[in-house]
Amino acid sequence: MNDLCIDVHHLNKHFGHHHAVKDFSLQVARGEIYGFLGPNGSGKTTSIRMMCGLITPDSGSGHCLGMDIFTQREAIKRRIGYMTQHFSMWENLTIRENLLFIARLHNLQQRRERVARTLAELGLESRQHQLAGALSGGWKQRMALAACMLHQPSLLFLDEPTAGVDPKARREFWHTLHQLSEEGVSILVSTHYMDEAERCHKVAYLSYGHLLANGTIPSIIQALNLTTMRITGAGLPALENRLQPFPVVEQTVIFGNNLFVTSRDEAQLTALITAVTGGSYAIAKVDTNLEDAFTWLMKNHDEKINN
Ligand SMILES: Nc1ncnc2c1ncn2[C@@H]1O[C@H](COP(=O)(O)OP(=O)(O)OP(=O)(O)O)[C@@H](O)[C@H]1O
Ligand SMILES: [Mg+2]
Repeated sequence: MNDLCIDVHHLNKHFGHHHAVKDFSLQVARGEIYGFLGPNGSGKTTSIRMMCGLITPDSGSGHCLGMDIFTQREAIKRRIGYMTQHFSMWENLTIRENLLFIARLHNLQQRRERVARTLAELGLESRQHQLAGALSGGWKQRMALAACMLHQPSLLFLDEPTAGVDPKARREFWHTLHQLSEEGVSILVSTHYMDEAERCHKVAYLSYGHLLANGTIPSIIQALNLTTMRITGAGLPALENRLQPFPVVEQTVIFGNNLFVTSRDEAQLTALITAVTGGSYAIAKVDTNLEDAFTWLMKNHDEKINN
């Protein structure tokens, strides 16, 4: 086996006439945390399910932990951990009872030892006797992570593991993911949160089933060659409306007292902003961030497929 724990090429999946995932290729190295982003319905869950052997692609090829995703699906399922997007648990059982029950369902040996070890690893010991139904969102997610780690997988697929979880609990959850990564566990994690994307070693961005960007965040942002200017002052919505019709303006967004304007042409954008604002605003060139980059990628792709 080479050092790639996920190595898939040109995967396609249709649901009836709907082409949900198109020509999807991805390589994830051992110990890497790979973020998986894209709008609702872009094909993240479907791609995850193909990579971990739960559904068969219509075409393509690939390996997961060195095993063929077409012919060794059962073996893959036993070796990976998969936290589903809408996981369920037994609300009338405690955390510990839930984990013991799952260990029994999967026919794992030395169940009590495994559960004890997993509770300790994930910082769940103090909560182990609480009923799952009474836990806050953050603890529920942590329990779900524990459930998919009982068999000590070296590759985790986490499908929106922190949806609806508060920032403090998300930070703690991500701290655990980085610890696991340090120990050599590879993690593919889908998320809609940009701050979480920025915590990943690499990210992949899907839109309408197309992989539009893939790699480290600086490499993705640099490749787009966008310029973003920040305009600070009053009356920003009106200014935004005036700037938007100009073709040189790719996108605009207001955050508090700042209007951010992104373009592919720095010189033209600077000239336009100077002319329109007439010197009554503070203007600065700022780094284009990941959200700007993804928004641009999606808009550009929408325009291509609608023309
Ligand atoms: N079993 C299925 N049968 C029919 N269509 C499906 C099935 N699973 C997914 N789809 C469709 O495939 C497309 C991709 O769905 P998928 O769930 O992979 O997207 P996603 O990126 O995970 O979205 P979200 O961010 O909402 O979780 C959607 O249009 C969805 O309706
Ligand atoms: Mg999904």
